[in-house]
Amino acid sequence: MDSLTIRKTFLDFFEQHGHRRYDSASLIPQDPTVLLTIAGMLPFKPYFMGDATPPTPRATSYQKCARTNDIENVGHTTRHLTFFEMLGNFSFGDYFKREAIRWAWQLSTEHFGLAPERIWVTVYEDDDEAEQLWLEESGVPAERIQRLGAEDNYWWTHAAGPGGPNTELYYDRGEAYGEAGGPAVNDERYLEFYNLVFMQHELDDAGTILGELPAQNVDTGLGLERMAVLLQGVDNVFETDLFAPLLARAGELSGVRYGQRDDHDVSLRVIAEHARTSAFLIADGVLPSKEGRGYVLRRLMRRAIRHGQLLGMDVGGGQQLLLPMVEQVIEQMRESYPDLQRQRELITRIATAEEHDFGARIRQGLERVDQAITAVRAADGDAFPGDVAFELHDTFGFPVDLTAEIAEDAGLDLDRDAFESLMQQQRDRARAGAKKGGGGIPVEAYREAAAVVGTTDFLGYESLTAEAELGAIVTPGGVQHTAGEGDEVEIVLPRTPFYAEGGGQIGDIGVLETPTGRLQVLDTQEAIEGLTVHRARVTAGEVRQGQPVEAHVDPSRRVATARSHSATHVLHATIKEFLGEHAQQAGSLVQPGRLRFDFPHFESVSRDRLAEIEGSINERVLRDPHVHTEVMSLDDAKRAGAVANFGDKYGQVVRVVTIGEFSKELCGGTHVPSGAKIGTITIVREESIGSNTRRIEALTGLDAFNHLSRERLVAEEVSRLVDVPSEQAVERVGQLLERLKTAEKELAKLRGANLSQQAKQIADAAPRDDGLAVVVQRADGLGHDDLRRLATELRNHLGERAVVVVGTATDDGKAQLICAVSADLAAAGVEARPILHPAAQVVGGGAGGKGDLAQAGGKQGAKLDEALQVAAREARAAVGGR
Ligand code: ALA
Repeated sequence: MDSLTIRKTFLDFFEQHGHRRYDSASLIPQDPTVLLTIAGMLPFKPYFMGDATPPTPRATSYQKCARTNDIENVGHTTRHLTFFEMLGNFSFGDYFKREAIRWAWQLSTEHFGLAPERIWVTVYEDDDEAEQLWLEESGVPAERIQRLGAEDNYWWTHAAGPGGPNTELYYDRGEAYGEAGGPAVNDERYLEFYNLVFMQHELDDAGTILGELPAQNVDTGLGLERMAVLLQGVDNVFETDLFAPLLARAGELSGVRYGQRDDHDVSLRVIAEHARTSAFLIADGVLPSKEGRGYVLRRLMRRAIRHGQLLGMDVGGGQQLLLPMVEQVIEQMRESYPDLQRQRELITRIATAEEHDFGARIRQGLERVDQAITAVRAADGDAFPGDVAFELHDTFGFPVDLTAEIAEDAGLDLDRDAFESLMQQQRDRARAGAKKGGGGIPVEAYREAAAVVGTTDFLGYESLTAEAELGAIVTPGGVQHTAGEGDEVEIVLPRTPFYAEGGGQIGDIGVLETPTGRLQVLDTQEAIEGLTVHRARVTAGEVRQGQPVEAHVDPSRRVATARSHSATHVLHATIKEFLGEHAQQAGSLVQPGRLRFDFPHFESVSRDRLAEIEGSINERVLRDPHVHTEVMSLDDAKRAGAVANFGDKYGQVVRVVTIGEFSKELCGGTHVPSGAKIGTITIVREESIGSNTRRIEALTGLDAFNHLSRERLVAEEVSRLVDVPSEQAVERVGQLLERLKTAEKELAKLRGANLSQQAKQIADAAPRDDGLAVVVQRADGLGHDDLRRLATELRNHLGERAVVVVGTATDDGKAQLICAVSADLAAAGVEARPILHPAAQVVGGGAGGKGDLAQAGGKQGAKLDEALQVAAREARAAVGGR
């Protein structure tokens, strides 16, 4: 039975039993407790928890799932997959154990045709009821029912949510797969294919049961890949119709055949498996990045590239791997997953970019790895150095987990602590270096200040003024005790209302006052983790360490900044709604009255779309949504659905900013108390800033208003000039431009006719000397094109044996000359350029051109007449006896 039929058989069966059919949800879960959709039940979690009412109490679905805990095992075994499909039937407080067991049995034996005598089941150790139901509802005898503990027969998401005891179905694949005795002793021979979970408990994220769910539910999962193994009579998933074509394609590309060499097989499986997961992740809006889902994706793609390299491919050099692989995935799966087809361009683009980028660097990186391994072995060590892992990460783009895996292949353990500490140092350096005009203060000076003052308390959410003691004065020379008028220093306070630049928001400015002096704060920065510095100039008196300080933030600038920050959140939420989940904030700059927002997207946002987005954000702001900030644990924040980076550490305390119903973000910035305070938001620019990244710039509050107001003045001025109401101005200007074009054409025609006539008159009147006509004509006011035209027209009218030289003095006092020689003379060897050359020198320039036509220009327009005479003489001399 092919996999399409397996999927259809399952869904049809449950549809016939009153289940509503659902298509697969995205791999990016709505549920914030997990990084990726790990099971078919995830989209239904609110129904299990009693947080929402399902439209029908029974559901069936196919669901793409990703589990990325042991990426390093994929390929080395034939079992591990990062991506798989789960077929499921669900009951939300409707049927329970009896029907779940009965239907699982019927479906497996009658519809999938599995041999009943080979099916075994396991039940949770104290679930007598489940065992009894198996005996009543199926043909499984008691000796093929085994009881196992919570480790095997209790299922939950491993995050806060629902869970319950389960019962699992296994299929005996026969003696070839090892000893008998049931799944309790051999889960290779007895292959699990269907899991029935009796969801009845609510658990916290440590797995402690908090209580009963509002109803007794059923959640099941049948692995499509596993079922394909059983029904296609093959050994493992890589031999099913889901994977065989992918392996074959990987083989074609690398010139290696599957099933010939163990190490090659590992690489082929890695490439096939990771290409499949990558294509699906990208289709759902994940783009490669440094953290979270993006990191997982990057790691998968780079791991696949590495294995291409191991197979001898020059990925990123002459050969392509990821691109043809994801194309194969799309071909194969698009019927069931039309999103793959819809997102084809994005998928292929990302795959190409990734193999181009990493492929170009991997060879050198791997050389570096080899060197390091050799060095460690020579020194009899067993740890792969953290600094090399850091270099590989920083210079060659090796995800640290990939390095760890390569080290492990060589029998070495990566020194992760050393790696992490280098990463932290880099972050500190970046922070210190990012300080605008940081004045070259060494990190050590900040460390010294931190040792004295400790970390800085930020009071600026509640207040714009505060009193504190002057903790330290930091200068490039180190910490000092005093600073005098004119000195530029950095001030550290134990507590401050000044916001240090962070999360895209710029640092505050304002004033610090001590009893003896006054400082103008020009910027506020976080110099090293936890330490805020006020970059300031002493504008009066002298300030001393230990003095009391009154700190005043510039309030109007702060308010204008807060508007932009809240506006950024509204924009972020709205952009994701319009463009898709992938359009996650990738960077931002929040300034007074102005914001910049960067996000991954693969094409420019059309003007219409931008206008829609702009309309939507202003509408949202106008409804005056409440802006609410709250400090909570990261776990709680994620549970509440806050937009967060999964790279963050658990246990951390975070601040969550909620705007109305539509935006919830982790954010340390300062905000307006309610949406309407933002005022107007207007988008002024949308542009590309590099591969797949777009930037939007917008103005907020009064700056937005002023901008629009200026634009209106321009529009008014234009309509005044064209003398129509402003709504007709565009059409009117268009018409005028059209008329102007026609008029210019007309004019050119007339001028041409005029020149032609003029030329004829001159030619007719031109004297011939021994049959030769040398015509020299001054024609001021003609442009270059007209001058040239005059010259050629004259030559035409003159016919044989003619040399024409025309010149014009321009308004800015320069001279231009053109010389044209008739065809017969040119054929006899008379060239235009040498004739013009001495004349060009007279006006202070040079002559160019060849054959029968030359032009010259010079700065000295006053000498034009003289130059023309020189040219005439030269022409006669040139013709000579010819
Ligand atoms: N949620 C259950 C699983 O993932 C069915 O195995």
